[in-house]
Amino acid sequence: MHEPLSRRAFLGATGAAVAGSALARPSAAVAAPAVHIPPPARPVAISSNNSLRPVTRAVELMLQGADTLDAAVEGVKIQELDPADDSVGYGGLPNEAGVVQLDASCMHGPSKRAGAVGALEGIKTPSEVAKLVLRYTNHILLVGEGAKRFALSYGFKEEDLLTPESRQKWLAWRANRGREDDWLDVPQGEAMVARPTGTINLNAVNAKGEISSVTTTSGLAWKIPGRVGDSPIVGAGQYCDNTVGAAGSTGRGESNIMVCGGFLTVEHMRRGMSPTDACLETLRRVVAMTPPRLLDGQGRPTFGLTFYAVNRNGEYGAASIFPGRYAVHDGREAAAKDCAHLYERR
Ligand code: GLY
Repeated sequence: MHEPLSRRAFLGATGAAVAGSALARPSAAVAAPAVHIPPPARPVAISSNNSLRPVTRAVELMLQGADTLDAAVEGVKIQELDPADDSVGYGGLPNEAGVVQLDASCMHGPSKRAGAVGALEGIKTPSEVAKLVLRYTNHILLVGEGAKRFALSYGFKEEDLLTPESRQKWLAWRANRGREDDWLDVPQGEAMVARPTGTINLNAVNAKGEISSVTTTSGLAWKIPGRVGDSPIVGAGQYCDNTVGAAGSTGRGESNIMVCGGFLTVEHMRRGMSPTDACLETLRRVVAMTPPRLLDGQGRPTFGLTFYAVNRNGEYGAASIFPGRYAVHDGREAAAKDCAHLYERR
């Protein structure tokens, strides 16, 4: 008589049976093609326009021998902790209810691991929490209350993330958003004509060719509570494959999620494209996937989106829908550079 199988034993047995069949063997068609790219002579870090300090810190740390993910996270933490940067962390612009909800994700190329948090409240540095998810759990994405409890268990302090300035901007938006609500317009109030999206994506490679990526954001300002964008979505907000490179984005997250842009950009590089061309190609896919309500009369998107990429060789590049800038440190010096772009102006 057969003993009843436990679930674990059953999975083990079926796994072994399937593994024995030809179907289970990865075929050349599904396996990622191998690439052989030599490492760069010096570490490189590429990031968004607000990140000259983060790329500088990341390269400094890599030159001292730090792991690429530790270096990348220490870099973006500078902006997360800076109350003057209203796109990430402390001082980030809140959701429509006036609550700051932060998203972040990261990947570590050498260990092939990822971690992320979404809609995290009360913790200034979501990139660090994402790194803890990567390092200490069997999961990839924690959200909301669970993500906060996870952070608190590691000794993070719960704090009010609104600064006086970000609260003022939110109050001005709430007062001026429409004529039909019960909030009176603020005299001389700031007219909120645009909805800011700010984010940092930072990709780093060291002289051994080890690569990591991190993306952190307070997301779309005035978003519906609970909305998470592309930043905590591994494969969209950032992606890293240690044999190829890393890529990530800033800008309208929903449009990036539709094309899995971080992953797609790395796959373009795998097929031999330069980082800049890979970013441009991903943007063309974004435009192709954009519904008519988000296109202007000339078929151009009505939103902004930028991709940043570095390959294992230390070549880097960035591209945006409309002209923009990015920050890079090539191991010698930090610089702000122009992105390649699809369209001249909005
Ligand atoms: N890319 C940031 C966001 O859409 O939340």
